[in-house]
Parts: sequence; C-alpha cells; structure tokens
Amino acid sequence: MSINRLGADRLADCLALAESREWLRQEHLWRLLFEIGDVYGIDDADGGLAGVVVSTQYGNEVAAIGMMLVAPSYARQGLGTRLMTHALQAAGTASAWLVATEYGRPVYERLAFRAVGEKSQFIGDFGTSASGVSRPASTEDMPEIARLDAEIFGMSRPKVLAQLPTFCTSLRVIDGPAGLRGYAGSWPNVGNTVIGPVLAENPQLAQALIEDLAAEIDGPIRLDLTLEQQGLVDWVESLGVQRGATTTVMVRGEPLPGDRKRLFTGLTSASG
Ligand SMILES: CC(C)(COP(=O)(O)OP(=O)(O)OC[C@H]1O[C@@H](n2cnc3c(N)ncnc32)[C@H](O)[C@@H]1OP(=O)(O)O)[C@@H](O)C(=O)NCCC(=O)NCCS
Repeated sequence: MSINRLGADRLADCLALAESREWLRQEHLWRLLFEIGDVYGIDDADGGLAGVVVSTQYGNEVAAIGMMLVAPSYARQGLGTRLMTHALQAAGTASAWLVATEYGRPVYERLAFRAVGEKSQFIGDFGTSASGVSRPASTEDMPEIARLDAEIFGMSRPKVLAQLPTFCTSLRVIDGPAGLRGYAGSWPNVGNTVIGPVLAENPQLAQALIEDLAAEIDGPIRLDLTLEQQGLVDWVESLGVQRGATTTVMVRGEPLPGDRKRLFTGLTSASG
C-alpha cells in the first residue's frame, strides 16, 4: 500500500475517513490544509482512504503534523507509523510539532516525539462583552501581522498569512507605539466558531482579543488553550465554559524556535 500526496479532489475521502473515526466533517479546515500543507494518504483497495496525515511545513525549521487518521478496519497494522515516518522524512525539518490524542501518543513516542505540554478544548457560550482594546484588521495591517507572526513563530509563514483573510471570519489587531502588540482571528467550524490564532504581548491583551472576537460571535465558541496558561484557563472556566477533550502537545527534534510565550493559541491544532 503506497503513500501518495493527495490533491483537494480527495477532500470527500478525507471527510469520510474522519467520520469513520467519529471526527467532525471539518470541510473548511481541510480546505485550508490542502492550501497550506501536504496531505499524504494511503488508498483503501475497496475505495476511499485507509489512512491520511497532513504536514504543514515552515521552511527547514518546523513541520506541524495533524489530521492523522487510520480507518478502523486498518488499525494496528502499522499504517499510522508509516504515514508519520513518511511525513517526517518528506519535510526533513529540524523540528516537528503536533497535538496528540490518547490513540496517537504511543505511536508518536516510539518515533521520538516528546510531550511538552497539555492542551484542552473549551467549548461554550462566553457571554462576555467587548473589551474595546482591539480593532478590526485591514489589508494594510497584513505586513505588520506577518512581522509579528514571524517573530513569535520564529520563521515566516507566507502561505498561512495569505490564507488568513479568507479563512477567518474576523481578524482583529491591537495597536502599539512600535507596531502591533497582538492579533487574533476566528473561523467557522462544525457546530461552533473557533477563536484562533491568538498572538499577543501578554495574557491581558490575549484576553482582550478573545473578548472582542467573542462579542462578535453568535453561538458556541471553541478555544484551545495549553494548560500552562493558568490565568486564561481560570478566566474561561469562570465564564462557565466547559472543558472538553485534553490532548498532549509533542515536539520531535530541536526545541521550537521563536517566542512561544506570546502564542496563546494557533490557527488550528493541525497547523499550529
Ligand atoms: C492514532 C492512529 C492514527 C494510529 O494508527 P495505526 O495505523 O493503528 O497505528 P500503528 O498500527 O502504526 O500503531 C498502533 C499500534 O499497533 C501496533 N502495531 C503496528 N503494526 C502491527 C502489527 N502488524 N501487528 C500488531 N500490532 C501492530 C503498534 O505497535 C501500536 O501499538 P501500541 O498499542 O503500543 O500503540 C489511529 O488509532 C487513529 O486513527 N485513531 C483515531 C484518530 C486519532 O486519534 N488520530 C491521532 C490524532 S493525533
């Protein structure tokens, strides 16, 4: 069973595979990943896909790996390990980053990924009012958003930046005397709106960005936070928002570059 790079014409097969593992049919997210990442899959002889993985490569530095799925009928036959090994070799980056479920974690540990933190989903109605600290981003802000993003991630991410205005429903920024102090966005998911990315100088400004985005959103919001961000986690829980699934953040190879203290959540849990 060979591993092939898939085009967006295989979107329906990816959604069907996700559904077979009781994952949501996140079409908007998959469309983004086909634009910014490399989608690798193994065909099922009976049609559709037996397995898939997405690698989003940022220069020679980092590959973000996500959407690792193997159909239940092909489980525990080594496909997951093969897909991950292929994605890592194809990227050839100094580091790889991912967010692991309990099913994926042992597979990744054997491939030299190490746990560096925990991340939880918080899903619900935030019921907060706008802080008024941020303003909507405009096209003219994009170069400055790219500068801040590169500083915090430690490398430029032109493909991600190019997709932000169409992928996100809303993008907001906080001005400062020496350029932007933060930016954040929200995007439509299945059954909720995700707040992410959130990049800011400090937790107070991250909270202000989240409040301003939340005030624009009708219906449930999903926000993924690493549990080290105790202050923000306490704040979100104080709003009565429920904690959902918890996953393990893992890194392989070199420690991640950039200034990750200012990264409160990424664009998606597959792409960072
Ligand atoms: C996580 C996932 C992708 C792993 O896929 P997989 O193809 O089953 O993975 P592998 O076969 O490479 O490894 C899984 C286990 O099977 C074992 N295995 C591999 N080949 C085997 C074989 N020929 N015979 C028996 N066992 C085998 C591995 O040693 C491993 O054992 P473990 O229980 O110690 O972890 C799959 O379980 C899945 O899709 N889960 C749901 C979605 C999900 O959580 N994805 C991960 C997102 S981070």
